[in-house]
Amino acid sequence: MRIAVTRRIFDDQLERIAAAGELRLWDSDLPPSPEELLELLQGADGALTLLTDRIDGAVLDQWPNLKVVSNLAVGYDNIDVPAATARGVAVCTTPDVLTDTTAEFTIALIFAVARQIVPGAHIAWEGGWKTWYPMRFLGRDLAGATLGIVGLGRIGRRVAELGAAIGMQVIYADAFMDDDEFRQVELDELLRVADIISLHTPLTEETNGLISREALAAMKLDAILINTARGPVVDTVALVEALDAGKLTGGVGLDVTDPEPLPADHPLYAFERVTIVPHIASATHATRHEMARLATDNVLAVLQGTEPPNCLNPEVLSNGR
Ligand code: GLV
Repeated sequence: MRIAVTRRIFDDQLERIAAAGELRLWDSDLPPSPEELLELLQGADGALTLLTDRIDGAVLDQWPNLKVVSNLAVGYDNIDVPAATARGVAVCTTPDVLTDTTAEFTIALIFAVARQIVPGAHIAWEGGWKTWYPMRFLGRDLAGATLGIVGLGRIGRRVAELGAAIGMQVIYADAFMDDDEFRQVELDELLRVADIISLHTPLTEETNGLISREALAAMKLDAILINTARGPVVDTVALVEALDAGKLTGGVGLDVTDPEPLPADHPLYAFERVTIVPHIASATHATRHEMARLATDNVLAVLQGTEPPNCLNPEVLSNGR
């Protein structure tokens, strides 16, 4: 069997794939273009993909052999799952193994923004640290602040737990979750009362642009907005307008952006109170290795006819391609 892997991952997992069949590796730090992806996957039985690879029905139609797309991510908005299901292609993901890591990073981003760690580090780096400043880099305390979690899934819930441990008052908005430990509110209320708003929804038709012009207008003037979910959950144009208009004085922390990567000349970089990092919330050695192991387990299990640990559309496994 032939398995395409769309980026270099850990050697031990590539060796497992190579031992099971023919490995076709896109051996680069940058993703293949759509044309290069098509060529890489030509004749493949399985694909281990990244969130940067767009897999839709038109693409799947080109590869009649393909039985499984195993995404190295918990999110799967890059894959048209109904189109895959309709074609009998299994879609697998890597949940759970990144929950703690991503939640810890979210808390790190909250701290970084609330305490101006990045602007402070820049000043020191640039040789601008002249004295102890009684009135500069004044951030905000987190203990006692209201943390509003939008989306209380696995990662959102862990952020809620960590936030509560710091002494934050945690509220959440989630139409599908009911959790006694934290106070549930409507999204409108959360946007109005939270000091820190942290986004943890998947990207779907419903959540695309959820943080709209109106949502931004509803937030406190000094709110902090954190996005470690998916960039398009926030309307980027509206965010720039809100920042320009002097809103969100508490700052903004973005691990994800729309577009992604965010071009170097993007207006968001002009705001010192916006901290942008390149989609790294799950990036620890241990977690990325676990994700690679799980994605490899998933692709090999489907191709070897055993049960994959995390399949989104298990109904295709018995009657797939
Ligand atoms: C990363 O964003 C993931 O979905 O795993």
